[in-house]
Amino acid sequence: MERISDDRKISKEDVLLEEKYYDDVEYVLIPHDDLLNNIKNLAGRIRNDYKEVYFLCVLEGAKVFYDELKKHLGNLKFEEGFVSAKSYSNTGSTGDIRVKGFDFDELKEKNVLIVDDILDTGRTLHKILKDVKRSKPQSLEISVLFEKRNNYEHGLKAKYTGFSIPDKFIIGFGMDYNEKFRELKHTCVISKNAIEKYKV
Ligand code: IMP
Ligand code: MG
Repeated sequence: MERISDDRKISKEDVLLEEKYYDDVEYVLIPHDDLLNNIKNLAGRIRNDYKEVYFLCVLEGAKVFYDELKKHLGNLKFEEGFVSAKSYSNTGSTGDIRVKGFDFDELKEKNVLIVDDILDTGRTLHKILKDVKRSKPQSLEISVLFEKRNNYEHGLKAKYTGFSIPDKFIIGFGMDYNEKFRELKHTCVISKNAIEKYKV
């Protein structure tokens, strides 16, 4: 896991951020290439650890991460499934987590690796873990691209974590603010302006 320090701020000019994002991005936290490198390493570890794996990807946020991860799995045998979970409105977790679109029985006796974008309050993964465990998988681990350093005592540990990041609201590389900015290439900290502008 790579630790991104609290004072890390990369300027928009340094990564040639598209001008249309200038007002919405406070600063860049992790440039695109660093994300790709890190994911390649994670994929290498997963490839080494598993003979066969069932990826359970948590939509929508983890999709970009998961697509990148899959490019580097070599000839690892895998199956995949997708669950859709949503808990955020504006920049806060609503606590009301909806998981849908998946028959958890499929996971029986599989080596399940849950792939999610970020571990924040831990509520989403708690809920999904509960459902997965009920279906009696052979093994169960978690992979997240980001883990936020915050004070939530969720007690969850992801075995495969890309980055430990400061407790900021981030956007880009699949992560959204009210469904915006998923297509932004870099991981960025959202600006106060954008939080107001796109509030629902
Ligand atoms: P939780 O608080 O650990 O349940 O996080 C739930 C979900 O909220 C994550 O899987 C993300 O989809 C979303 N989320 C949490 N923190 C952020 C953030 O900083 N930016 C965008 N989405 C976030
Ligand atoms: Mg998510």
